[in-house]
Amino acid sequence: MKAKIISNSCVKGPCYKLLLKPLNPVKSVPGQFLMIRPGASDGPSDPLLPRPFSIHRATTDDHIEVLYKRVGKGTAILASLSAEGELEILGPLGNGFVFDGVAAAKEVVVVAGGIGVAPMLGLVETLRAGYPEKEIRVFLGGRGEVDLLCVEELKAVSTEVILATNDGTMGFKGYVTEALEKHLSQSLITHHSSLVTPIIYACGPSPMLQRISEITEPLRIESYFSLEANMACGIGLCMGCAIRSRDGKGYYLVCTDGPVFRGESVDLSGNPPQSPFNKGGD
Ligand SMILES: Cc1cc2nc3c(=O)[nH]c(=O)nc-3n(C[C@H](O)[C@H](O)[C@H](O)COP(=O)(O)OP(=O)(O)OC[C@H]3O[C@@H](n4cnc5c(N)ncnc54)[C@H](O)[C@@H]3O)c2cc1C
Ligand code: FES
Repeated sequence: MKAKIISNSCVKGPCYKLLLKPLNPVKSVPGQFLMIRPGASDGPSDPLLPRPFSIHRATTDDHIEVLYKRVGKGTAILASLSAEGELEILGPLGNGFVFDGVAAAKEVVVVAGGIGVAPMLGLVETLRAGYPEKEIRVFLGGRGEVDLLCVEELKAVSTEVILATNDGTMGFKGYVTEALEKHLSQSLITHHSSLVTPIIYACGPSPMLQRISEITEPLRIESYFSLEANMACGIGLCMGCAIRSRDGKGYYLVCTDGPVFRGESVDLSGNPPQSPFNKGGD
């Protein structure tokens, strides 16, 4: 499907925001993504493959925002496109976040590392609208201040935003997972008698997600991770996005089974699956 570029501009450092108006309205839920062919829709297919990007926000007037970081050829081409042009997009794809455990949770904890914040602002806005009384605590981490995006927008819709940078240029000095661990140990002591735990949503680099698993699994905290993987098709055909499961299901495809998974169901160690032919219980 074609989408008109309404705007495309740098928000901070190497990160850009793209505002698209798809030619046909697109209904999505937070956590879903688009495959975007980086060049103009009438330009050359180089790079050949489209690239996956989270839907950052879906606006009420059928516009879609994409927040992206320039890391390679495709995102460099994307960053060079100007308003009024058109892009080829496919989506919305994937499952999106589920909210079943939110009502019963003590609080909602959202953890985002770097550009991993892209799907999380829409998530927090949706949670705030659906659960106006719920405490929503956002942990936003990066290597330095330049990596912290959407801070003011997140503050506007959450109870608290805790910032963490490895170099200490903003907020807590250290990994965002250290700040999370501190918070959880405090809050679980305070609420020990009630045995009510938070629910956690996270998106960011695999080591961050793996550390969150290590912290939350012994505490039996329900957690959902939005994962990244190399994707060629985005629709379950190429097997390029396979990730090993930890629940006896062989492997999952990040594009169609995810990108959002229960934390304990996936292997985040980075080991590729042995064979793409063992899906479904082998
Ligand atoms: C479901 C899903 C949602 C995503 N949502 C977003 C999003 O909202 N915003 C966003 O910016 N990105 C997002 N990504 C990642 C994005 O798809 C890649 O950054 C993009 O494909 C890179 O394309 P490229 O051609 O610029 O880089 P390539 O030429 O493919 O790669 C260039 C170099 O960058 C490295 N690289 C590739 N991806 C990343 C990365 N994510 N971080 C750091 N280095 C990388 C490669 O290893 C390589 O060394 C998402 C990925 C998935 C699977
Ligand atoms: S990207 Fe092709 S199967 Fe997932």
